[in-house]
Amino acid sequence: ALPRDLEGVRVAVSAGGTREPLDPVRYLGNRSSGRQGFALARVAAQRGARVTLVAAHTADLGTPAGVDLVRVGTAEQLREAMHAAAAEADVVVMAAAVADFRPVAPAEHKIKKSDRDPDPVALTRNPDILAELVAARRPGQVVVGFAAETGDAEAGVLEHGRAKLKRKGCDWLVVNAVGDGRAFEVEDNAGWLLSAGGSETPIPHGSKAHLASALWDAVVRTSNF
Ligand code: C5P
Repeated sequence: ALPRDLEGVRVAVSAGGTREPLDPVRYLGNRSSGRQGFALARVAAQRGARVTLVAAHTADLGTPAGVDLVRVGTAEQLREAMHAAAAEADVVVMAAAVADFRPVAPAEHKIKKSDRDPDPVALTRNPDILAELVAARRPGQVVVGFAAETGDAEAGVLEHGRAKLKRKGCDWLVVNAVGDGRAFEVEDNAGWLLSAGGSETPIPHGSKAHLASALWDAVVRTSNF
């Protein structure tokens, strides 16, 4: 049985990939399955936490037992739901793959096929939700980000992770190497857990539940809930 070391701790987790509409039937999306975020929510609930899971598009994963699931579509919707959940949370985890850009003005009607060349799609930047949550952090609240880095060189992936941790200002950053069939759309994961204090812990290859346990162990060890 898992330890009940998150008993009563309020947790907000985001998961999945946002979809940014181009028109009523089309969107810009990404390959996130939501599995890592769902594993984080499930394991936290099993350890006694009160969990709100804000999920954008995911694979068909069901609702983890004892978790309050909020479904969203776009980055803007995810932003609102996470700000609301974070206002009452002790720990906030941004595991969602948020679109960095969205179409400026989604077409009101389905874009028609035509013989002329299509217009380019004008994009605008989405807000960095993690950075906003850090800026709005409650006293003592723990904020965790994820970083998916492509590339093979461990040193380069870690260096990017360190820079991102500083830039975002979160307490923990889970860095995982993606691409070549790693992390996205698969059952397992591996990476490093970086802390604002400078610790760097490798997370060996294993299930997404295993990575979730490693993160919750670290959070429990370093917080006084
Ligand atoms: O900068 P990058 O997208 O690599 O950072 C990834 C982290 O930032 C993840 O925790 C992701 O959920 C979060 N993020 C966000 N809002 C965005 C883009 C990423 O909160 N617009």
